[in-house]
Amino acid sequence: MMTIDQSYNNSNIIIWKAASNIALVKYWGKKSFQLPMNPSISITLDQSTTTTKMEISKNKHLEREIDFYFENTKNELFAKKIENHFKNIEQEFPLLKEYNYKISSSNTFPHSSGLASSASSMASLNLCLASLLLKNNIIEENNFYLTASRLSRMGSGSASRSLFPSFAEWGIESEDYATNIANIHKNFSDICDAILIVSSEEKTVSSRIGHSLMEDHPFKDSRYKNAKKRLLNLLKVLENGDWSTFIDIVEAEALELHAMMMCSSPSFILMKPNSLKIIELVRSFRADTGLNLCFTLDAGPNIHLLYPLEIKEQVIKFINDSIDPFLEDGFWIDDNIGQGPVNLS
Ligand code: DP6
Repeated sequence: MMTIDQSYNNSNIIIWKAASNIALVKYWGKKSFQLPMNPSISITLDQSTTTTKMEISKNKHLEREIDFYFENTKNELFAKKIENHFKNIEQEFPLLKEYNYKISSSNTFPHSSGLASSASSMASLNLCLASLLLKNNIIEENNFYLTASRLSRMGSGSASRSLFPSFAEWGIESEDYATNIANIHKNFSDICDAILIVSSEEKTVSSRIGHSLMEDHPFKDSRYKNAKKRLLNLLKVLENGDWSTFIDIVEAEALELHAMMMCSSPSFILMKPNSLKIIELVRSFRADTGLNLCFTLDAGPNIHLLYPLEIKEQVIKFINDSIDPFLEDGFWIDDNIGQGPVNLS
């Protein structure tokens, strides 16, 4: 696994880059404080990343200050969210109150692409905080990633999985933090993700509200039962390399997530007509060609196309020839499985 470069030891600047992730078995519904109602599995991406730079200085008055810049511009709204996050974790790590922070964050993907950046931004921010804790001997090196994952989870559940290379699970070993899935068949080792931007509009219902609507959901018991069953099947599939069952599980999960939204009270629909059009096209393409291409969605209208690297040429042709008219400004992101966070300090 990654080694922790401690070159920042004498410096007051910590920089981490972390990627977004796409869930195969979805986290949808919480209990207690930021704990999942069911375990989830995701692929850590490579290209869709956030880099966070944290400049720290000793705070002499015990009134911690946070300045937050997003894409080089001061952002008070994000600063408020980060302030809340600090308050949550300072109860456990009071040392964090002893510093002032200037935090600058930037994404590789456009903010207006409709892609959620909470996973990559929370992961990179909390890696910086974990580095600070490590530097002060508050945590040990062998707990570094698990602590960073746990802190990230407290900021945004899905972020807990962005701390690990390739495939990660959250909720099997622990609900507190995510871990890496070690046994992955070579058929999935070079999996690609074409992220098709159907709409970049701000979502009408946030994930936070969506999670809370699961509390009194009429189908919640079957949803959690299905998710657990699919997760166990998917773990087997990831070991045995069976793409056909992988496709069944991943598409069923994506559609069930959106079905939950449609049946919530109040009901909401995050897919757009073009999302459905693309789903139909993917299924016809698969029927016509027999190639291993499938779709999944997060809590939004954009489609992630998952496929093995060996069919990349055919997939790009399919996107250009058939999918392009259903994309916003023809925009899609060419991403793939990633190697986990990078310390740039
Ligand atoms: C549909 O992690 O964004 O992407 O914990 O409230 O920040 P919070 O929610 P968030 O939810 C992600 C939901 C999902 C599925 C998933 O990534 O597992």
